[in-house]
Amino acid sequence: MSNTYDLVVIGTGPGGYVCAIRAAQLGLRTAVVEKRATHGGTCLNVGCIPSKALLHASEAFEEAAKHFAGLGVIVSAPKLDLKTMMAFKDEGVAGNTKGVEFLLKKNKVDTFHGTGRIAGAGRVEVISEDGGNRMLETKNIVIATGSDVARLPGVAIDEKVVVSSTGALELDKVPKKLVVIGAGVIGLELGSVWRRLGAEVTVIEYLDRVLPGMDGEVGKQFERLMGKQGIAFKLSSKVTGVTVEKKGGATVTVEPAAGGEAETLQADVVLVAIGRVPYTEGLGLDTVGVQTDNRGRIQTDSHYATNVTGIYAIGDVIAGPMLAHKAEDEGMAVAEILAGKSGHVNYGVIPNVIYTFPEVASIGRTEEELKKDGIAYNAGKFPFTANGRAKVNRTTDGFVKILADATTDKVLGVHIVGADAGNLIGELAVAMEFGASAEDVARTCHAHPTLTEAVKEAALAVGKRAIHM
Ligand code: FAD
Ligand code: NAI
Repeated sequence: MSNTYDLVVIGTGPGGYVCAIRAAQLGLRTAVVEKRATHGGTCLNVGCIPSKALLHASEAFEEAAKHFAGLGVIVSAPKLDLKTMMAFKDEGVAGNTKGVEFLLKKNKVDTFHGTGRIAGAGRVEVISEDGGNRMLETKNIVIATGSDVARLPGVAIDEKVVVSSTGALELDKVPKKLVVIGAGVIGLELGSVWRRLGAEVTVIEYLDRVLPGMDGEVGKQFERLMGKQGIAFKLSSKVTGVTVEKKGGATVTVEPAAGGEAETLQADVVLVAIGRVPYTEGLGLDTVGVQTDNRGRIQTDSHYATNVTGIYAIGDVIAGPMLAHKAEDEGMAVAEILAGKSGHVNYGVIPNVIYTFPEVASIGRTEEELKKDGIAYNAGKFPFTANGRAKVNRTTDGFVKILADATTDKVLGVHIVGADAGNLIGELAVAMEFGASAEDVARTCHAHPTLTEAVKEAALAVGKRAIHM
């Protein structure tokens, strides 16, 4: 194998492997360097895929326990076989990571396992676990090294009692009491998993709301629904210490965020889920002088180029939402740019989905953002209680809300809480990419009886002409 490439990609998460495949499709001689034994990055190994596997399995467990009888399906109380559930998750992960390995091979991308270090412009050193190394020469380098768990000062993660999302995906028994620090996406997805399997879950959040950054109405409704399911919230609260006890478990000290009297909570497991930070350890950025911002993110221009010629960066390691599909689209865009085409990502139209039950999905601007920017808008909202399919399925929690420009009727944002919201948002992403108006969505024929009719009705509601409400 000759060691000279058009492109070397460091990291094979969703950003890196997609970039490499697209570059190879476009005729660039491409190699990837990955320090994990398997490809797919955080997403496939310890993120999106295993968390969705456990969400799926735990939802089935809860359905069987609480809802089957109401459908006339009589089964004895389901028993949890956590070991098999974890094996189900691991099989799903292996299937996906092997799939990426197959795709890289199929596209003739050379793969190197080891830590990639940029030794200079056009040179990537691969340091393997046994200490051996080899140098790859390349015209271009794309850094796609992703992100890592954000740490809480003074709280050591041992992945047994005090866990990050990684440890929370492989607990060997259901904790009686789980304390989650952070009411963001990970806290609520993995909090839901362990609540469904029998844990008593308390979520501690620094801010006065859950899911900061999401539309305020969505946050309020979601907090209410999660509360009804049994998750307890302590908002406007900060954790000032976590002590692991010799007898097992931990004591968590909590204070009001604004200051005040401290209280303590006992937990069998504490999940730290306060965000993620860009990962650039061992890359040698200093050696080549690649600039990062004050949050450690690699700085790039609109073509993903860093300040050093021939070095590019994409995905969680640069600014923007830390989402797999955002990383993938950037991977594709940078490959196209390097092949002389015009790659591009529309950051105004990136869906964001939380895979709880019900799901939350949003795209575009929130009401708060539109108000802040002084943009006049009309809101059309339709509750699932009025959707025929949701009614018959008894999945009536939530709503679809469409925000459209008051003058042009162009769709500016969509926010959904409801069953299958993650799939429902797809049509709105396409509509927004095509600059659709609410009326365009309203006049599009939607199949009956489907949940998508709630989307049509919300679009009709923008013009105050919903039919079923
Ligand atoms: P990563 O996936 O982090 O991949 C980076 C890769 O680079 C890693 O494999 C790493 O080993 C490798 N690497 C790092 N440094 C080096 C080096 N020097 N040399 C060689 N290799 C290196 N996003 C969604 O869109 N949907 C979800 O449902 C979702 N669920 C998630 C659930 C959890 C629990 C977590 C933690 C994250 C989730 N995410 C989800 C976020 C998603 O995983 C990330 O946004 C995505 O993986 C980012 O892709 P990336 O390619 O930028 O980086
Ligand atoms: P997050 O940013 O979603 O939420 C972190 C929460 O912790 C916020 O509500 C924040 O206010 C709170 N917080 C921060 N410091 C705190 C403190 N000291 N005490 C109490 N609360 C504190 O981060 P999370 O949940 O860790 O997820 C990380 C990233 O992974 C997300 O940015 C998301 O993009 C990605 N992800 C995406 C998923 C999806 O798309 N379904 C699923 C899981 C993760």
